[in-house]
Amino acid sequence: MIVENNVPLQPYNSFGIVARAQNLVRIASEADVAELRADPRWRDAPRFVLGGGSNIVLTGDVKPLVLKVEIKGLRLVEETPRAWIVEAGAGEIWHDAVQWMLEHGYPGLENLALIPGTVGGAPVQNIGAYGVELQDRFDSLDAIDLDTGRGFTLDAAQCAFGYRDSVFKHVRSGPNDFGLSGRALITRVRFRLPKPWKAVVGYLDLERKMEETGNFTPSATDVFDWVCAIRRAKLPDWRVLGNAGSFFKNPTVTPEQCADIIARDPKIVHYPMDDGSIKLAAGWLIDACGWKGKSVGNAGVYERQALVLVNRGGLENPVTGGEVMTLAKAIQTSVYERFGIRLEPEPVVV
Ligand code: EPU
Repeated sequence: MIVENNVPLQPYNSFGIVARAQNLVRIASEADVAELRADPRWRDAPRFVLGGGSNIVLTGDVKPLVLKVEIKGLRLVEETPRAWIVEAGAGEIWHDAVQWMLEHGYPGLENLALIPGTVGGAPVQNIGAYGVELQDRFDSLDAIDLDTGRGFTLDAAQCAFGYRDSVFKHVRSGPNDFGLSGRALITRVRFRLPKPWKAVVGYLDLERKMEETGNFTPSATDVFDWVCAIRRAKLPDWRVLGNAGSFFKNPTVTPEQCADIIARDPKIVHYPMDDGSIKLAAGWLIDACGWKGKSVGNAGVYERQALVLVNRGGLENPVTGGEVMTLAKAIQTSVYERFGIRLEPEPVVV
């Protein structure tokens, strides 16, 4: 185990923001965590767990010890008549893990293809796209409590998944609170992929693909290819144009609030939810306020999807975290002034 000093973080965040880690350690196995905890210099040091860096905004150098998770491994752990259970190391690249499972005959994650980041970040965020959320395909995960050094396993209920939310995003505030933010390092995730496999193609964009191709009984590989094509057409590739995916969550409102907005803006995109609330498309709200294609310094609003903020300066003259947050605040203010809705950012601001 080597603690590196003054490590550039630009290659480790998908915005391409320049910042440094004062101290960084690469965690390739559970033993690395044990070694770290055995060292009195680091045992109680403040720390920050870094996965793929695809959902963070760095607003300065990172002073806490950065634990960069690089735990690898992909394997089928169990096959039952009802499911394949596949385990992946938290440091595996998410998209590569999805592809590996598909190629080895364990389909089920194809709707989540091309999502940036690592396997360990997926449950933190409860990633979701095109009709599937991680929680729909989740079995359990292993993690280490960095305060005590103890390993533990959580099932789906214990992860308390919500929309882009889980127990890993919440700070513990009392003895009866299980918030694990800053405390847990996820080491391995197991997926439960139901048998027989069934395509999830109810999402509008996928229905369009079926119409276009005339293929109404797609294979898992077809769905994978369609999702990749849809994402490539709508979302910028962070390797070319830095970004952190959707920058805001889609807000929910009451039917009364929604009726009020429809009266003023009949075209508003809204979806009724199972619990009676109404989900609004944040991208539409931002677009309606005229932000598409606009910039503040090197922070811009993507031309083809207003929900994505991008780094217009590339790696040479990159956006700063301050510019991203200034743009985000300006967007929040104008959406609030026009619609009375507070948009909540999705990425973690560091
Ligand atoms: N829209 C506009 N203008 C825009 C952007 C969107 O009018 O600039 C409209 C679209 O026409 C559409 C609606 O808003 O009617 C929703 O857009 P879209 O279907 O592209 O999905 P989204 O709500 O913007 C969500 C997730 C994505 C996920 C897609 C596909 C959130 C915050 N975002 O986006 O997740 O890939 O659905 O399922 O929930 C992410 O979380 O980083 C992410 C990319």
